[in-house]
Amino acid sequence: ATADIGVTGLAVMGRNLARNLARHGHAVAIHNRSPEKTRALVSDHGYEGTFVASESMADFVTSLKRPRAVIVMVKAGQPTDAVIDELIPLLEPGDIVVDCGNAHFLDTRRREETLREHGLHFVGTGVSGGEEGALRGPSIMPGGSAESYQKLGPIFESIAAQVDGVPCCIHVGPDGAGHFVKMVHNGIEYADMQLIAEAYDLLRSGLDATPGQIADIFREWNRGSLESFLIEITADVLAHVDGRTGRPFVDVVLDQAEQKGTGRWTVQSALDLGVPITGIAEATFARSLSGHAEQREAARAVFPVTNELAWAADDREGFIEDVRKALYASKVVAYAQGFDMIKAGSEEYGWNVDRGATATIWRGGCIIRARFLDRIREAYDDDPELPTLLASPYFVKAVSDGVESWRRVVADSARAGVPTPAFSSSLAYFDGLRRGRLPAALIQGLRDNFGAHTYRRVDSEGAFHTLWGSDKTESAAR
Ligand code: 6PG
Repeated sequence: ATADIGVTGLAVMGRNLARNLARHGHAVAIHNRSPEKTRALVSDHGYEGTFVASESMADFVTSLKRPRAVIVMVKAGQPTDAVIDELIPLLEPGDIVVDCGNAHFLDTRRREETLREHGLHFVGTGVSGGEEGALRGPSIMPGGSAESYQKLGPIFESIAAQVDGVPCCIHVGPDGAGHFVKMVHNGIEYADMQLIAEAYDLLRSGLDATPGQIADIFREWNRGSLESFLIEITADVLAHVDGRTGRPFVDVVLDQAEQKGTGRWTVQSALDLGVPITGIAEATFARSLSGHAEQREAARAVFPVTNELAWAADDREGFIEDVRKALYASKVVAYAQGFDMIKAGSEEYGWNVDRGATATIWRGGCIIRARFLDRIREAYDDDPELPTLLASPYFVKAVSDGVESWRRVVADSARAGVPTPAFSSSLAYFDGLRRGRLPAALIQGLRDNFGAHTYRRVDSEGAFHTLWGSDKTESAAR
């Protein structure tokens, strides 16, 4: 046995991870169900490092030094279970199975439990950064046992993206913690993209600008506090001209956003955990709405478009700055909600996830990498128990500076008929948190009226019920 770590499943992500490992001096055992992919990897990239190729799973396992570490890089769901079932009888106690796919954290918890019964470690690992990231340095979010991290940590940290000399990889927490945090990363990714899309839509309508002009605005924004991978590639996509028609690329792409499910999972778990991640939810629903072509057509037929155009033409610069500030403030809300979600998951499952460290490993490699994650890290370093990111001094100032712009943009968009579900719901969330008294009191009154569901009072302990149907006296409920 000569290999330090193995990868089974050599589609593009698996192949790139294997190459990244080899390039960093790790001897990598490689295996794929159909051996052509294994052979192609050796012939195309064998010179990059040490690959130990096997055509059978048994040989692949034998080629690994103990404790063996096997990265499974196949499709989430049933294919992952099938590979794990094949591996279990071939492995020995202390060996480690790593799932680097986008698995649901509850599947990861289940698998971890099963493998633990066999004396094996199961490490659900979030890997972000797409194909390029896998090859050149992803952000890596491993869960599983602390013991497994002793072997995996140094290997993963060597292949992860590095920011200021710090690797974008930590041991996130036990069992499903890594996949949970990756799921929330993807939820934030949905919100981030929806906010960018709304900003684009507003600029396009409000200024009657071309995609090329808007690309320049995003390029400019990428030099300031909004600097991030997604803003950078937004400029590239908007500037792109379709080769076939000569039209802006965004105008020839069908406007129906697809999804593979991690955003939906985030929202589903948020409902279970009771965390109002409204930005991520609106972003997910906006994708769904875009796909309902028939309903969109029906609505357009009866409510002809009367959208205002170029309403901001008189104060171009002022409007662009308003949209920039609204985007930044809404983005802070989306991240605040995402980090609340991590806290809630961590408490529910006893993971003890460090939010500041999580912000640190999202600074590079991953899709949501952004300059402002440094600010988030600082906020949690200063106060690990911060009740909401919005209350940290840096973000208090940032949001306060932007709030008037944010309100103008949301009001303008409503007036003009440009949908901004993520901008608007983020502002409503912000106002909801800071409002002294919420109308939730009335909801409690209604619940008690129709169903004797009881309410609590501001002035005394306990639950109460009013006899709505008779003399309206109040009694203490047990
Ligand atoms: C990443 C990405 C990746 C995800 C895509 C597509 O972190 O590298 O999050 O894991 O698969 O973003 O997701 P959707 O198809 O759901 O948009």
